[in-house]
Amino acid sequence: MNITNAKFLVSSAKVTQCPNSKQPEFAFIGRSNVGKSSLINMLCNQKGLAKVSATPGKTQLINHFDINNGEWYLVDLPGYGYAKVPLGEKAKFQSIITDYALKREQLTSFFVLVDVRHPMQTIDRNFMEFLGLHGVPFSIIFTKADKLNEAQVQKSVDAYKAEMLKTWQSLPPMFVTSSAKFKGRDLILGYIGSVISNLEQR
Ligand code: GTP
Ligand code: MG
Repeated sequence: MNITNAKFLVSSAKVTQCPNSKQPEFAFIGRSNVGKSSLINMLCNQKGLAKVSATPGKTQLINHFDINNGEWYLVDLPGYGYAKVPLGEKAKFQSIITDYALKREQLTSFFVLVDVRHPMQTIDRNFMEFLGLHGVPFSIIFTKADKLNEAQVQKSVDAYKAEMLKTWQSLPPMFVTSSAKFKGRDLILGYIGSVISNLEQR
């Protein structure tokens, strides 16, 4: 899978306002500031496509991006778990995310982004358990790998796997990435391509 064309389609405040489309959707989610928007820009090779900010809480809507003129949609969701967002706002983001996960028929798979420098966070664990409970497929993307050396990355990923295996019988697909260094792009796009071709064979 190569991305030859990527363009912003629409921002929606609710799942009911999302595009009435048939394209398979891949959604990017994770704690605020984990690097979702940066990763989307890296995958699409387009710097300003999704808005990146050093201040957490930048992405507040469901953002649809059209990939390869209608081949599939990439979806940027608000980050969860940002402490400085007022409680009411937090609940609003939370319901946007859960509604999208449970009601969006076009949703094919989630990518749950986690910062490779940190051990498993409760909020990520809870979200993955929620997805598992409802049978929503997901993969894990480790972000910001350029902030550690290779051995440290490996150690961190191994610890994450061990933690997951305490509650999960098998591990989801996992990708180590750095948006700053363009790391992990081919593997993720290859994975998306294989998921789409499996859908087409059904
Ligand atoms: P919200 O939309 O606020 O939820 O954040 P987000 O998850 O979309 O994060 P965003 O892509 O805006 O990045 C947050 C900060 O992390 C920015 O300052 C980025 O430059 C930085 N960042 C993102 N990815 C990487 C990476 O791979 N390496 C490094 N070194 N910094 C990164
Ligand atoms: Mg963002």
